[in-house]
Amino acid sequence: MEYINPWVEYWNRDKIWSKSKFWRKQMEVFVRLTTGIMDYNANDKILDFGCGSGNFAEITADRVGSVVCADMSESYISMCSSKFAEVPNVTVARVNPDLSDLTNVGTGFTKVICFSVMHYFTDLDYVARFLSGIQRIAVPGTKLLVGDIGNNNRTWIDNFRALSFTLREGMFLDALILITRIWLSDSHYRKIKQRGDSYLSIPDAYLLELGKELGLKVTVLENQFTVNANYRNVLVEY
Ligand SMILES: C[S@@+](CC[C@H](N)C(=O)[O-])C[C@H]1O[C@@H](n2cnc3c(N)ncnc32)[C@H](O)[C@@H]1O
Repeated sequence: MEYINPWVEYWNRDKIWSKSKFWRKQMEVFVRLTTGIMDYNANDKILDFGCGSGNFAEITADRVGSVVCADMSESYISMCSSKFAEVPNVTVARVNPDLSDLTNVGTGFTKVICFSVMHYFTDLDYVARFLSGIQRIAVPGTKLLVGDIGNNNRTWIDNFRALSFTLREGMFLDALILITRIWLSDSHYRKIKQRGDSYLSIPDAYLLELGKELGLKVTVLENQFTVNANYRNVLVEY
């Protein structure tokens, strides 16, 4: 039977994430903690792949050349189109769900962000098409940062690191509010997530091997950029 990815529909009907202060702060923290690696600057044309409600563009638009917000969710595309209608250096583009012809989101990118998106991909072949698709629309030397790649291996140490992270970054209260909202008004999320079992499992070795095949430098970063201490962050250099 053909696999139907439940996340595609879920992200078309966001109830809590676009309003979440926690999610917005998480992106602020992610941008701050990754600035050393990514050096976001005025010469950059940045693709935010899987942009959601556009937090990345909101935070960085005034310091980078331009940002393209790209997503496959029609509701996020329409949300971002209204949000950035008057912002000259932010544009919005819909990703073809089968990833065919990524050039429709633009070309000549100098940096690509893909934050908390890859584990929603349907299969590993999709991951491979994504990495090679970016190769066609990015300039040589482009850095792709794939952040917060989910998995279902959370230990008590990860929970402890998550708690310390929220306290350190002043996100504890917002995290509590988000968790409460999920429990009270988005039971669908818990059902689909299945404690991470529904996420695509993307072994580090797969990404490293793919990098070799495509001639890219792939580095699995040890840094903790997000509350999800067990999630992976991977830098791909084209
Ligand atoms: C957890 S949200 C993250 C949103 C955003 N990156 C942020 O941090 O605020 C996941 C996003 O990935 C998008 N997404 C999932 N699969 C995608 C795909 N195959 N192509 C483009 N976007 C995708 C969803 O529509 C959703 O906006």
